[in-house]
Amino acid sequence: MSFSNDNEDEKGLRIANLHVEYAAGHAPLRDFHLHVPEHSLYTIVGPSGCGKSTLLRAIAGLLSSYGGQIRFGGESLRGSGALIGFVPQNYGLLPWKTVRSNIETALKIGRPGRALQKQHEEQATHWLTAMGIADLADRYPLSLSGGQQQRVAIARAFALQPTILLLDEPFSALDALTRENVQAVFLENWRNHPTTTLFVTHDVEEAVLLGERIVVMPSKQGESADILDNPVFALDAAGKRDSDDFYRQVRRMRKVIQEKW
Ligand SMILES: Nc1ncnc2c1ncn2[C@@H]1O[C@H](COP(=O)(O)OP(=O)(O)OP(=O)(O)O)[C@@H](O)[C@H]1O
Ligand SMILES: [Mg+2]
Repeated sequence: MSFSNDNEDEKGLRIANLHVEYAAGHAPLRDFHLHVPEHSLYTIVGPSGCGKSTLLRAIAGLLSSYGGQIRFGGESLRGSGALIGFVPQNYGLLPWKTVRSNIETALKIGRPGRALQKQHEEQATHWLTAMGIADLADRYPLSLSGGQQQRVAIARAFALQPTILLLDEPFSALDALTRENVQAVFLENWRNHPTTTLFVTHDVEEAVLLGERIVVMPSKQGESADILDNPVFALDAAGKRDSDDFYRQVRRMRKVIQEKW
């Protein structure tokens, strides 16, 4: 590998030899490696229980211990000061705060002193509107449906404009039409702010629609993930879903998954 490649590699998120053991002998991730170049959007698919959420939690700094390295821009992610936006599988909302306050609190903590309260309010309003839930701003999370809570969590992560965005099945609770709308908003936002992003999904079509490349996790611990190029990513949004390229790639993905899992 040339030096210039090494420098390019340094810029991204690099996970090396990641080892997570929850209990003696139970390690969903063993010797796991992944490199996500800066400003790229990778989708991740994998069988239930293979360690996708564990991987995102490790990157988000939510695991008390793990082995291996998680680096960003050539230094330890924790020490790099990179702001991480995380949409966890269970939404991770604060039940005692209103929808609006969930977003504004995240902005206050994540971006202290960087903006006035008024700007936080504007950001919250903008993203709640983009997610189609502006009318829920004063409600509490537990009074919302799963899909509504999920959209609050997405609005919160987008409002933060993080350096690294981690999404764990973020659209899984949405009906088909809302999901298509939110996917479009997500892609447009990503193109405007190409945040280094890892997006976990169980939906092969979603992985193909959204991923610049697609990470296929192994079903067995210790095996390596496959990383597939995705030509669909470069297509124009209009007609992408109905294109031959899209169907071809979905078929190819299904084949890889059948062979790998
Ligand atoms: N806090 C925990 N304590 C013990 N075991 C855990 C814990 N969290 C996850 N596990 C186990 O680790 C393995 C990986 O879990 P993880 O949640 O990362 O899977 P996943 O790939 O996200 O699955 P899914 O697609 O169902 O969300 C599973 O066997 C799970 O039971
Ligand atoms: Mg999971």
